[in-house]
Amino acid sequence: MATLDRSSLQDGKPKKVIVDGHPVCVVQIKDEYFALGDTCSHSDASLSEGEVSGYKIECWLHGAEFDLRTGEAVTPPASASVPRYEIVESGDQITIKSRVEERK
Ligand code: FES
Repeated sequence: MATLDRSSLQDGKPKKVIVDGHPVCVVQIKDEYFALGDTCSHSDASLSEGEVSGYKIECWLHGAEFDLRTGEAVTPPASASVPRYEIVESGDQITIKSRVEERK
């Protein structure tokens, strides 16, 4: 679990935090917050160093894009999803909680 002040985030600027020992990429888009595993499923680049456009984040290394809402890889060369993390908003803070287990 990791707690951040909302003021530490900027709209559309990814931020890397550590949650239970795992790097997580947190993104604010207007009044919505998203948290994905920070490690690209293609070849281990840090997604928080990538660019956000719409609800997608693009890996800086080879250009794979992931849907911030689902973690799904939507553009090659990545084909596997990255994990999503639960976010709880409270006052001026957001808390990134446990990894969301996907339904099979
Ligand atoms: S490491 Fe992310 S697309 Fe290759």
